[in-house]
Amino acid sequence: MLTNKVVVVTGGAGLLGRRFCSAVAEQGGIAVVADADGAGATRIAEQLASQYQGRAEAATLDITDKESIARLITKLQKQYGRMDAVVNSAYPRNRNYGRKLEDVTYEDFCENVGLHAGGYFLVAQQFGLLFRKQGGGNVVNIASIYGTMVPRFDIYKGTSMTMPVEYAAIKAAIVHLTRYFAQYFKADGIRVNCISPGGILDKQDEKFLREYKSQCGEKGMLDPQDVTGSLLFLLSDASKYMTGQNLIVDDGFSL
Ligand SMILES: NC(=O)c1ccc[n+]([C@@H]2O[C@H](COP(=O)([O-])OP(=O)(O)OC[C@H]3O[C@@H](n4cnc5c(N)ncnc54)[C@H](O)[C@@H]3O)[C@@H](O)[C@H]2O)c1
Repeated sequence: MLTNKVVVVTGGAGLLGRRFCSAVAEQGGIAVVADADGAGATRIAEQLASQYQGRAEAATLDITDKESIARLITKLQKQYGRMDAVVNSAYPRNRNYGRKLEDVTYEDFCENVGLHAGGYFLVAQQFGLLFRKQGGGNVVNIASIYGTMVPRFDIYKGTSMTMPVEYAAIKAAIVHLTRYFAQYFKADGIRVNCISPGGILDKQDEKFLREYKSQCGEKGMLDPQDVTGSLLFLLSDASKYMTGQNLIVDDGFSL
């Protein structure tokens, strides 16, 4: 589906990002595993390169640093002459992220929204400008169901987890920025879409998993590979005339 397409995945060493990179390489593309964790990115890229005839490489990237993004773009331009897509899948947060509403300070709220929504903005801005010069490109933002639905706080009762208030602001911003960017770059051959996954399995509390599943179709929380089909669709020509859209992949949880 993606023969020789160069696809940069920010957060490429993460839970979802590494599966996205694997799916890109498997479909004949070249996955750039771009992550603030350079060692993690190298590990993932080496695994994928040996599995898929060299179709992966690592890059150290900080999505909140314009110079870091510019350095990556310059390097890849020299190397490949062209980039086809960027997937915003990094998950920056500060050490106080994830507290319950009562304990979130103004400073932490602003910092976490700035790192995550601001970082996604910066990546989309810098790649959007590059894609405009190139005459086309594709941006996929990873949002979340919590960008469009309010949390069901009951399912967190009795666990140490919550659905952070910053996350609601961040993901709603990303869903809407997707439409803003799609409109802004519509005449430049650039498509901008987002995917809103439901919860992803990562050794969560059993009670929480049961409660979550009771709101779903058959599976409940998903595995990372359950989201890759939507990503490949958005990256490929199968979705050629789609832009500004939000694909919700959540086994019906948000209904
Ligand atoms: N895991 C879930 O349940 C879930 C559900 C819905 C949506 N999402 C979204 O999917 C995306 C990926 O989430 P994940 O679960 O894979 O997260 P993760 O924490 O497993 O991975 C995130 C990656 O981002 C990297 N990163 C952090 N700060 C960075 C920065 N400044 N620059 C570059 N890289 C940076 C980390 O090193 C890490 O490898 C996020 O947007 C998240 O909100 C996750």
